[in-house]
Amino acid sequence: MSVVLTAKGLSKRFGGLAAVDDVSFEVEQGEIFAIIGPNGAGKTTTLNLVSGLLVPTAGSVTLHGRDLTTLTAAERCHAGLGRAFQVVQPFPEMTVRENVLVGAMFGTPGISRADAERRADHALEVTGTTNLAERDAEELTLMEEKRLEIARALATAPTVLLLDEVMAGLRPAEARDAVRLVRSVRDEGVTVVFIEHVMPVVRDLADRVLVMDYGKVLTEGRYADVTKDQRVIEAYLGRDDDAPPTDVAAAAAPAGASGDAAEDEA
Ligand SMILES: Nc1ncnc2c1ncn2[C@@H]1O[C@H](COP(=O)(O)OP(=O)(O)OP(=O)(O)O)[C@@H](O)[C@H]1O
Ligand SMILES: [Mg+2]
Repeated sequence: MSVVLTAKGLSKRFGGLAAVDDVSFEVEQGEIFAIIGPNGAGKTTTLNLVSGLLVPTAGSVTLHGRDLTTLTAAERCHAGLGRAFQVVQPFPEMTVRENVLVGAMFGTPGISRADAERRADHALEVTGTTNLAERDAEELTLMEEKRLEIARALATAPTVLLLDEVMAGLRPAEARDAVRLVRSVRDEGVTVVFIEHVMPVVRDLADRVLVMDYGKVLTEGRYADVTKDQRVIEAYLGRDDDAPPTDVAAAAAPAGASGDAAEDEA
């Protein structure tokens, strides 16, 4: 195995707040790597530092040994860092296929129309959205939107795909689909780094887990090991008297949607 992505000493301050504080990790080629931790732990900020949406106060990001730290988000995308967002924002009046085509063209400047179309169609196939290709993006369900978001990111031809809570708001059955989707992306040879609160999803997907708390790395390791770590239990999973965020139904359905989920599962 070889290291594909390295974050070294990443820090980001917002005024007096150290949102990310000296975070380092390495991701191996072909790995599915999870970042977990309580709300406000600095997970999204870390991903933003990696993708170039934010400029770090300190630290560096390298992809295949190439230092990306001074590159813009677009340049990092061209270098092979793909990104799907916590809040899905497709172009609503374009079809699914057109949205994915934009990803293909954005990811590789100067790509021919024919190559972009081939790449877009492949991304649609991998994400199971070929049947939605001619639909307007604004007509999609949440799960379909998430598939589109991943298809669009995949069409940029990433070496590493960064996913921020793509399972949020999904019903349990949909979350299981999403797990299969992320696996098929990895089977395409794409390394995946994802942020997730739904613990069964983390358990099922992650080869390794980085746990953050208060902007720092609390620990890192296999799911089975980090979830036994007393510090992780106290900071995130909850003590015996707290409800741990490990229930798919509770975690995958937003408050108020549980009735829907129950109906759906019945
Ligand atoms: N642009 C910003 N300006 C000021 N503070 C910010 C900004 N972005 C994030 N923060 C703060 O930085 C901290 C880390 O936020 P971040 O969004 O990275 O957390 P997170 O781990 O992704 O949380 P969640 O699980 O809720 O998505 C929080 O205290 C947040 O309020
Ligand atoms: Mg976040």
